[in-house]
Amino acid sequence: MRVRNRVEVMHGVNLDQLGRRPEAIYGDLTFDRLELRVSDYAGALGLQVRFFQTNAEHEFVEHLHRLEGLADAIVMNPGAWTHYAWAIRDALEIAALPTVEVHLSDVNAREEWRRRSVVRELCLATIAGQGVEGYRAALERLKEELDG
Ligand code: DQA
Repeated sequence: MRVRNRVEVMHGVNLDQLGRRPEAIYGDLTFDRLELRVSDYAGALGLQVRFFQTNAEHEFVEHLHRLEGLADAIVMNPGAWTHYAWAIRDALEIAALPTVEVHLSDVNAREEWRRRSVVRELCLATIAGQGVEGYRAALERLKEELDG
């Protein structure tokens, strides 16, 4: 049987702007550097990662539709869509892959509206407030899941 080790790392709206966003909340890593770090974490765990980022909700949804047969698991940080984009929740349900939700910031300690996540119920875990380290934890959780 083929090794299940392909993880799609999906970022949503405004995350490409890391490095220009409030440093006290999101840290000082640029988006490119964040992807490099996540790649390193994945490599150390024997996981193969592919990255996707868009600022267009329909592209995020369509990307989820197309994952069948191409990915074994998902790490997802939908940005602000997390809090209201029900179409993304439904597309994630269709994708039906083990998923971990990650947020750089501690969404529960910020504005009230950031406490709701429309994807949480479909995810194995939600990791928030650990910065880029949160991605390592997410990949570890998925590795555990994929290794069964
Ligand atoms: C975020 C938290 C969201 O509330 C926010 O809209 C983002 C980033 C995070 O990674 O902390 O864009 O998902």
